[in-house]
Amino acid sequence: MRPLSQTLHKSEGKASMSQSLSDEIKQEVDRRRTFAIISHPDAGKTTLTEKLLLFGGAIRLAGSVKARKASRHATSDWMEIEKQRGISVTSSVMQFDYLNHRVNILDTPGHQDFSEDTYRTLTAADSAVMLIDVAKGVEAQTIKLFQVCRKRGIPIFTFINKLDREGKSPFELMEELEQVLGIRSVPMNWPIGMGRELCGVYDRMNSQVELFQGNDHSTIEVRKVDDYNDSIIREMAGDYLTDQLISDLELLDVAGDPFDYEKVQAGELTPIFFGSAVNNFGVQTFLENFLKLAPKPTSRNSTSGPIEPSNEKFSGYVFKIQANMNPAHRDRIAFLRICSGRFERGMAVKHVRNKKEIKLSQPQQFLAQDRDIVETAYPGDIIGLFDPGIFRIGDSLSQGSEVEFDELPTFSPEIFSKVTVKNALKHKQYQKGLDQLTEEGTIQVFYSTGNFDETILGVVGHLQFEVFEHRMKAEYGVDIQLHRMTFQFARWIVDDQIDPSKFRINSTMVKDKKGNYVALFENEYAMRTAIDKNPNSKFLETAP
Ligand code: G4P
Repeated sequence: MRPLSQTLHKSEGKASMSQSLSDEIKQEVDRRRTFAIISHPDAGKTTLTEKLLLFGGAIRLAGSVKARKASRHATSDWMEIEKQRGISVTSSVMQFDYLNHRVNILDTPGHQDFSEDTYRTLTAADSAVMLIDVAKGVEAQTIKLFQVCRKRGIPIFTFINKLDREGKSPFELMEELEQVLGIRSVPMNWPIGMGRELCGVYDRMNSQVELFQGNDHSTIEVRKVDDYNDSIIREMAGDYLTDQLISDLELLDVAGDPFDYEKVQAGELTPIFFGSAVNNFGVQTFLENFLKLAPKPTSRNSTSGPIEPSNEKFSGYVFKIQANMNPAHRDRIAFLRICSGRFERGMAVKHVRNKKEIKLSQPQQFLAQDRDIVETAYPGDIIGLFDPGIFRIGDSLSQGSEVEFDELPTFSPEIFSKVTVKNALKHKQYQKGLDQLTEEGTIQVFYSTGNFDETILGVVGHLQFEVFEHRMKAEYGVDIQLHRMTFQFARWIVDDQIDPSKFRINSTMVKDKKGNYVALFENEYAMRTAIDKNPNSKFLETAP
């Protein structure tokens, strides 16, 4: 038996170690900011992301948007198809340090056909930056993405971009946010002029002006002022713009919403920043204010109740899976959002669904193609795990007790195609590709229940079919043919007694990967009729 004194000493040591671990986790959580930028394509998301990365020293390439133009792809784009189309198809993760903050930006595809992927990625963010083009205002894709953020109740910060161009007036944009999105706003800064007349912004919170200098607006000067009546502004902006600024701000002071930290945190009030990403104007002050106001990682709901990030036991969940991010390596990566504890390379954790212990040996952090091996990571961080085929979207990993995080949202496919292989000899590769790409979660696969052995794919956006076809060829060497079907709705049927042969008129019955019955309908009328005729069945929009 060990002497009592030694035992005491050991447990004391453990207590102080544990104390320092929890302090360390708390400190790291406090400085983390994990957010996504949401916008309609072309609002300037790539440009803003690159400017933010530049501030963080994560990329050294000034004017990389121009570089993008030359090479037709941005730092955050991976796939060949993205280069060809110049759009960001898949979501990536970028990390950098700024003013003692560890910043994680979740990049999301702007194209609406990939909204499903975006929605899932948004679950991994603690706040969102909504980017709006000053001339276009709130656009269709902004509305959809905003709604997803709203549902989660995360804080939303607004950056009105392209102020160097003529656009809607700031008051009109505030009105639009309220009318279209139903959110009140509080301008943190206010433009002095716009378009060709743009001369700067007045920072309402810090009483300072940021002014464009030089004929080509190439330098930016920041001057402290007493308030918006300060003569410095008049000297630099002239009478006309200064009078306009004063009258706008007087109106805002009286009629605008006051800044309310609690409301911002609850996602009920959005702070607005005006700027121009391409000119780097207003970007740095936006970043600094954003880092002050944006929330650190908070608790996450699980089957065992809320899990605090400061909990010493590591936990996290997979929100995205992507195969062949680097075609040279033919790998498959599961993106994991850390929710609690400290991640250490090589640690053993429980794969909760499989009830197996696994070792996390080669985790990666991302800055697009440059991948670093991660030694340690904390709540709010995203790590990429090499996936030998054991992960599914929504899987939880945890240390100690089994923690399962709330299910990720899934979406009902709306477009369907039969898929066939052109060369029957390639069937094995086809099956492998089909399995891997459907596991990534953007394509759902169904099998016919009739006499013919048919494979049917369902997606939310048409472009996903194109990506599927392209990747099957590029990554698996398989030529496929897609035959568009006329169905528009899928409903998972919960009923032991269901008779598949009843679903014939403008509909068909198929099975999903797990063998669940799914009815596909050509139109809403056919679906309504089926629901009315089968009162004992449940028709679910997504898999049970
Ligand atoms: P996205 O990722 O949201 O789709 O937008 P992206 O950053 O690619 O920007 C879309 C276009 O808007 C780009 O022009 C970009 O240069 C421009 N842009 C971004 N920020 C600003 C800004 O503050 N002011 C102005 N005037 N333009 C801005 P493009 O012509 O499509 O591409 P490129 O020729 O510049 O590469």
